[in-house]
Amino acid sequence: MSEREKRFDCPEAAGGPVCTPEPERARISGSETVRPEKKSFAVDQSVTLAGVCMKNPVVVASGTFGFGREYGQFYDLSELGGICCKGLTLHRREGNPPPRIAETPMGILNSVGLQNPGVDAFIEHELPELRKHELAVIANISGSTPEEYGVMCGKLSAAGVDLIEVNISCPNVKAGGLAYGTRPELAAEVTAVAKAHAGTVPVMVKLSPNVTDITEIARAAADAGADALSLINTLRGMRIDVRTRRPILRMNTGGLSGPAVLPVAVRMVWEVHQAVDLPILGMGGVSKGEDAAQLMLAGASAVAVGTACFADPYAPVRVRDGLAELAEEQGLARVAQLTGGVLPW
Ligand code: SIN
Repeated sequence: MSEREKRFDCPEAAGGPVCTPEPERARISGSETVRPEKKSFAVDQSVTLAGVCMKNPVVVASGTFGFGREYGQFYDLSELGGICCKGLTLHRREGNPPPRIAETPMGILNSVGLQNPGVDAFIEHELPELRKHELAVIANISGSTPEEYGVMCGKLSAAGVDLIEVNISCPNVKAGGLAYGTRPELAAEVTAVAKAHAGTVPVMVKLSPNVTDITEIARAAADAGADALSLINTLRGMRIDVRTRRPILRMNTGGLSGPAVLPVAVRMVWEVHQAVDLPILGMGGVSKGEDAAQLMLAGASAVAVGTACFADPYAPVRVRDGLAELAEEQGLARVAQLTGGVLPW
């Protein structure tokens, strides 16, 4: 068990749910986990993503924040712009066998396999809790068939989520998963079905970096009616124990996230921003304000913080404040003015 798993008493080691920090111990274990000082900023931090207004551009990434219950012990979730909830499927899933998480230099590999309680349980038990806070609730969904995406969109739209993130890029499940995100015609089919069932709730399609040309998939989703895109999901990777010669993850491969992937995410957001006229939720390796600013300058309207939350539950709050500080330093009236502001050579 790694030092971090010990520190947070990570249930992952026993095959339990995705690692979430245990508040008291996390708070005393190092300066990084101390609550950031409350700051006030003159800069307007509000942004709009596919018509959804958020008080700031910082969202937490799906699969790194559960449904907010554990992190809600550290701070009021209303401090966030939004939450992308743990990926939902039509029916409850136990996920993949352990080990499902492995550390890498500057990141982690995961092969969780979409462990979740199912869309109905989310609507009954988690959504009402999230609604007690003022933040955009983004439901992330994965299906084995286009029809399953449609059924889930219908249920979530009726339940009144703010946005639906359609995951066509999970690298860790056999049926559906990555296949929809690597073939333009399948990406278009899933997007069209999701749109047809989502009613007035905007549909954001989550893209995979595990493709030759991400703009092809982005265009397919845009042409099929997507209201926004989110990128990037994790990069497929693998680690091997050289003594046992066994892969570290039980499923052999997993998705890489964390600071190591930030430059890939920035490049892909930049390419997609030039290729399609859709708002982008940028993510991949964000752990400080400057990282988020890079994604916004590349073209993102909002940013998601993911893996950084495992080491520091306050990471999203620090990213939000760092971004506001940077915008003020640059004399901007609105943080949103960073979007697309890169000056390429
Ligand atoms: C997982 O649950 O395996 C991660 C989901 C994803 O990467 O899309």
